[in-house]
Amino acid sequence: MYADEGHNVLCADVDPDANLGLALGFSEEELAAITPISEMKELIRERTEADQFEKFFKINPKVDDLPDKLATEKNGVKLLLMGTVKTGGSGCVCPEHVMLKRILSHLIVGREDVVIMDMEAGLEHLARGTTDFMDQFIVVIEPGARSVQTYHSVVRLAADLGIHKVNVVANKVRDEQDEAFIRENIPEENLLGMIHYSGKVADADRRCASPYDMASDAVEEIRRIKEKIDTDRRN
Ligand SMILES: Nc1ncnc2c1ncn2[C@@H]1O[C@H](COP(=O)(O)OP(=O)(O)OP(=O)(O)O)[C@@H](O)[C@H]1O
Ligand SMILES: [Mg+2]
Repeated sequence: MYADEGHNVLCADVDPDANLGLALGFSEEELAAITPISEMKELIRERTEADQFEKFFKINPKVDDLPDKLATEKNGVKLLLMGTVKTGGSGCVCPEHVMLKRILSHLIVGREDVVIMDMEAGLEHLARGTTDFMDQFIVVIEPGARSVQTYHSVVRLAADLGIHKVNVVANKVRDEQDEAFIRENIPEENLLGMIHYSGKVADADRRCASPYDMASDAVEEIRRIKEKIDTDRRN
């Protein structure tokens, strides 16, 4: 939607189980051809100047040119696959980790650019300070107690990082019971909206197509959510 409005859009897939590309309409072949940044060993070595044993390396490598250079574009949306780093606990410091963190904090290029990061529920890629540029976290939940718990744990983790704006989108809502459950468990001011279960979204997934092109019902609901986000940003 943002790309259709003419915005420069950059999406970063930071989920170890990366599948954002499929939802954006990339084909499986196109995605398989992209090397995740965490696997760009040469680049990481060059920028961090890591020695052979990775004992000494720069913790502030130059990365500002990378998001644009490394992203692959489709339908006006640029996609960055961040990849995964096997971390030995949250205090892990290795050249790959340093690179990923540093890139995440350099994603914003211009004020009118839209940057969307798709992350798993844990926030270990982020450190205090690297999230200063973020407008908000959006937690996509489903109508169930476990999902609500995940929301609460993201609120806590985000607060540790200094982010206090954590909003919710409820997805796969099926009936009035689901709607009531969401309203009971999520504060009204934090609920951006609901997306109902859609056979068309499921169908798009089976065809490896983007729901944006195939699921007009969900797209309409998401458009209202987007309008809320945009109004909120302007105020
Ligand atoms: N509104 C919806 N209606 C029907 N199916 C949906 C809807 N939203 C998502 N799905 C389906 O649910 C599955 C998971 O969706 P998606 O990958 O967006 O979830 P996710 O929360 O990002 O999962 P993960 O935690 O693995 O990253 C996909 O098969 C997708 O097509
Ligand atoms: Mg996901």
